[in-house]
Amino acid sequence: MTTTAILSALAEEQHGLIELLAQPHRVERAGRTFWQGHLGGQPVVLALSRMGKVAAATTTTTLIEAFGVDQVVFTGVAGGLGPGVQVGDVVVAGQFMQHDMDVSPLFARFEVPLYGRTLFDCDARLSDHLFAAARSYLTRTGDLADPGPFTSDATLHRGLIASGDQFVGRADQSSDLKAALQSAGHLPLAVEMEGAAVAQVCHDYGVAFAAMRTISDRADDQAHMDFARFVQEVASQYARGIILELMPLLPK
Ligand code: ADE
Repeated sequence: MTTTAILSALAEEQHGLIELLAQPHRVERAGRTFWQGHLGGQPVVLALSRMGKVAAATTTTTLIEAFGVDQVVFTGVAGGLGPGVQVGDVVVAGQFMQHDMDVSPLFARFEVPLYGRTLFDCDARLSDHLFAAARSYLTRTGDLADPGPFTSDATLHRGLIASGDQFVGRADQSSDLKAALQSAGHLPLAVEMEGAAVAQVCHDYGVAFAAMRTISDRADDQAHMDFARFVQEVASQYARGIILELMPLLPK
């Protein structure tokens, strides 16, 4: 049977998922806590990525090497960069890139040395399932009489996400980042701090990867306040709701 890793960025997102686990079993490894169990009758391992690319790479490598997971699904929050990507929207990743990778002039700016590429693709089939799960969840919450903060009129996007080891929390930082990326022909929908590292590790091991990010802020001067409020009030509901929709869609 296929074992799925469910990586969360935040403890708040993971709590709701641990509660749903059948036969939960806690394992400590690499200074991290992993939860093995079953969700919807399928074996899963829950883990926290922690923040930043190195921490996320360590967690992902441990999931593959020590727990033998066959596929990795990431849920987290991100800052909206693309036009029309608003707080409360969901972005399913098509590809990832590292916006802080710069080994120019030895390699083209943003290219990951020795991989000959800037973009790391997500697995198309797993991402299709995640997109369908997110659509179905958002349709249901959109139908609620009182959808709560942020959840009404949420739009689902799919495309490029940029990762880097910084919280983009100023409007000038965000516009500089967008200008640099656009001059190299990249138009990311969202920015966060882990996805490209997870994508690269999964690429190295030939493990399928899909990711979704709920937009918590617009990566502007308001970002830190929007982020804190969103994480507390909404992010965990999204993660739990979308993963619950996803599990029955996955082939056993
Ligand atoms: N995650 C959520 N919001 C973010 C931002 N503005 N920058 C980086 N990572 C984020």
